[in-house]
Amino acid sequence: MILAVGYDHGGFVLRAAVADFLRGRAEVRDFGIFEEQRSDYPDIALKVALEVSEGRADLGVLACGTGIGMTVAANKMRGIRAGVCNDVETARLGKAHNNLNILAMGGRLIAPEQAPAILEAWLSTPFEGERHLARINKISAAEASTLSTEGLGGGRVVVFNHPLVQHKVSIIRDKNTSVKEFRELVQEIAGLMVYEITRNLPLSEIEVETPVALTKAWALSGKKLAVVPVLRAGLGMVDGILQLIPNAKVGHVGLYRDPETLKPVEYYCKVPQDIGEREVFVLDPMLATGGSAAAAISLVKERGGQKVSLVCLIAAPEGIKRVHAVHPETDIFIAALDDRLNEHGYIVPGLGDAGDRLFGTR
Ligand code: RB5
Repeated sequence: MILAVGYDHGGFVLRAAVADFLRGRAEVRDFGIFEEQRSDYPDIALKVALEVSEGRADLGVLACGTGIGMTVAANKMRGIRAGVCNDVETARLGKAHNNLNILAMGGRLIAPEQAPAILEAWLSTPFEGERHLARINKISAAEASTLSTEGLGGGRVVVFNHPLVQHKVSIIRDKNTSVKEFRELVQEIAGLMVYEITRNLPLSEIEVETPVALTKAWALSGKKLAVVPVLRAGLGMVDGILQLIPNAKVGHVGLYRDPETLKPVEYYCKVPQDIGEREVFVLDPMLATGGSAAAAISLVKERGGQKVSLVCLIAAPEGIKRVHAVHPETDIFIAALDDRLNEHGYIVPGLGDAGDRLFGTR
């Protein structure tokens, strides 16, 4: 388990107690402050929350004077459920009912000796799921331009309900849409989705000389990405993403379905050598049975992929279930969640065979 931790000057008094408690229990990523000095709690809270939001840490611990400022700031990050827990019962219920992924404490409200019991209650209590999961999913649904639901394995299903995405999806569903328009729209939707998916990429401050003055500005701070289309329909999504992120590397996975076992069999797989250092997006426009998507994710993981998400245009509930059964931690990003599969394995209402419609083979 990886835990991200951070303190301001108001929470610094708890630092040693938290570190002692976590030693041997978790790998700790420490975002300071390292010495007692005046500091702004949002700077620390946002760094810790981003670690959790982007999956580099499983959970986070924050402390300021009350725990409130840290909590307010951390909850601005996607997927974060931070709560102030200055006693054991709040920590227990915060996990059991709210599945808090960040616990905040107040260095001016509790003594360092109280921190271990609070942390123990939070870490050892399981999330109860069921009605509480349904409630949490209602909160997630309010985030940004997405509808997001979370399973017990941690992987989310994020549906992009942005009006532009929905409008374009309607056009590609139409059987009268031409191959040219279909291809262009698939790229545009993939680009819009990745624009939203990468919202929390880390930035670092740089200096830029404009024709008028030297100024401070922001640059992406070296987070590496890779896209891995599943052949052949996944290819239709690649260019729309590369237009926005030209430095992303591209791998490829080819799978066919064995006519006897009906299981996906690999016929091609080549991914960037440093795949383990990259955030990977497996691309497949249609998530139908989920068999090939799950197999593609497995292949990427076998070759070292650590943080792998799936990006699809249209999904059936059956496919989501299958992928999360095999890869419960995988985030699945989709533009539309359809009703079901028909007896031929096509998504209903869907859009037909995305590969045929992209390449004009039917
Ligand atoms: C800092 O003085 C204090 O405001 C901070 O530690 C925290 O309590 C904010 O919520």
